[in-house]
Amino acid sequence: MQEKILVLDFGGQYNLLIVRRIRQQHVYAEVKAWNSITLEQIEREGYRGIVFTGGPNSVYDPASPHFDPGILRLGIPILGICYGHQLLAWMAGGEIRPAESASEYGRVALEHTGGTLFEGIPSESVCWMSHTDYVKTVPGGFTVTASTENCSCAAMADDSRKLYGVQFHPEVTHTEYGNRLLWNFLFAVCGCHGNWTMDDFVSASIARYRHELSGKNALCALSGGVDSAVAAVLLHRAIADRLTCVFVDHGLLRKGEREQVEQVFRRRFQMNLIVVDARERFLTRLKGVTEPERKRKIIGEEFIRVFEEEAKKLGKQNVLVQGTIYPDVVESGAGSAAVIKSHHNVGGLPEKIGFERIVEPLRELFKDEVRAVGLELGIPEEMVMRQPFPGPGLAIRVMGEITEEKLTVLREADAIFREEIMRAGLADAPSQYFAVLTDNRSVGVMGDERTYGWVIALRAVSTDNFMTADWSRLPWELLARASSRITNEVRSVSRVVYDITSKPPATVEWE
Ligand code: XMP
Repeated sequence: MQEKILVLDFGGQYNLLIVRRIRQQHVYAEVKAWNSITLEQIEREGYRGIVFTGGPNSVYDPASPHFDPGILRLGIPILGICYGHQLLAWMAGGEIRPAESASEYGRVALEHTGGTLFEGIPSESVCWMSHTDYVKTVPGGFTVTASTENCSCAAMADDSRKLYGVQFHPEVTHTEYGNRLLWNFLFAVCGCHGNWTMDDFVSASIARYRHELSGKNALCALSGGVDSAVAAVLLHRAIADRLTCVFVDHGLLRKGEREQVEQVFRRRFQMNLIVVDARERFLTRLKGVTEPERKRKIIGEEFIRVFEEEAKKLGKQNVLVQGTIYPDVVESGAGSAAVIKSHHNVGGLPEKIGFERIVEPLRELFKDEVRAVGLELGIPEEMVMRQPFPGPGLAIRVMGEITEEKLTVLREADAIFREEIMRAGLADAPSQYFAVLTDNRSVGVMGDERTYGWVIALRAVSTDNFMTADWSRLPWELLARASSRITNEVRSVSRVVYDITSKPPATVEWE
């Protein structure tokens, strides 16, 4: 049985980070909201250990999240972090108080007195704190194992019951020995072996779906993106020709995209691939539309219609395969059953077409794990490491009305920019980079003639999560080359500008 750790979520902001840090040590971890799992379920699942996360509440507030104290008697090791540390102390009979001076926030010097959790960690180090309440009196059976200037109980331990609490955040990188502390918990306390690897995940998934989907037909909508590609290839390894993939060319793709999909899926993997040429259909429906949200809506609806038509032509399809990944699942409510990716491309499909089942082979994985699986499956690196591309495609990068002419100009300019970034060896550096066709024309001069052509904007951003982003400081030479090539090689472009706005206040996309 796969050894796993439960990260019991009490509303902290670093919860997914805790899961990441544990998985990086090759132990599978999953997050569940505190009110989405019962004591009986926890027992049944056979967790090796439990982490109580942080959270914004105070344990004495009756409205704050609590848990059945019976969890302390299950014999499963527990590590409480921040609010989780206070909750653990409170459940076991300790005393919590609001800070006497101000709250403790940021990097703080930590001193420990040893114990299993601090094995291999120097007695003085730096930790990351963010709290107002603190544990004033540890519960019976516990001893204080670390402190800071303002926090007398920065860590506590009850080795006999394998219960541990830390007021600081071991999961953030500012805590110098955070990874070592988690390692100690996982391996020395919980007795994990660290056998969560992507090649095991691949072979286990193939075996599982081969069995579960025996005799069934499955359908998968490829978007050209990483997630659906990896999900499709994984399922293909399990059920071979019983999987059919549909790729809709809505005419809003980047240069070379459709060809790459055909090359990889049809020729390299020899999968059943249907490429639907729906370019005219989409353009007709988008004619005269300038409002961004309206564009998105039309594209979403039309996509579903095209996909439905193709599915009907194929006859009975039992299963819909989707590339939902872990952050999608967690965002839509941890642990809730069969969350369907709210991606506009495929939203609403299952009810309409009547699949028996939705299969989401990647719903336990983070993006970098999905990429690792993709490489393991032999999907080419340029597809696996690809930057994100929005579902509505170039429609939201052509400002204003979408025309064939504007799309062609943008496609060429975008391809040049991407090529120059690649050539400069920066393909991995910005998180996303692309060209935008502004709805403006500007005066230029070429030879002896005045021109009046399009203004192209280039955008490159760095970000961890796309909620906030900073514009990339690309080398001037690279921007100069891109600008010069775009104005020379793409007809009717007279000017190139570089977008130096971060998010917020701007968004990544222009529409
Ligand atoms: P914004 O523009 O919101 O972009 O800062 C954040 C990330 O989301 C992508 N994006 C979309 N993806 N459908 C998608 O599938 C959309 O309508 C859409 N709008 C933005 C954007 O490319 C960036 O990665």
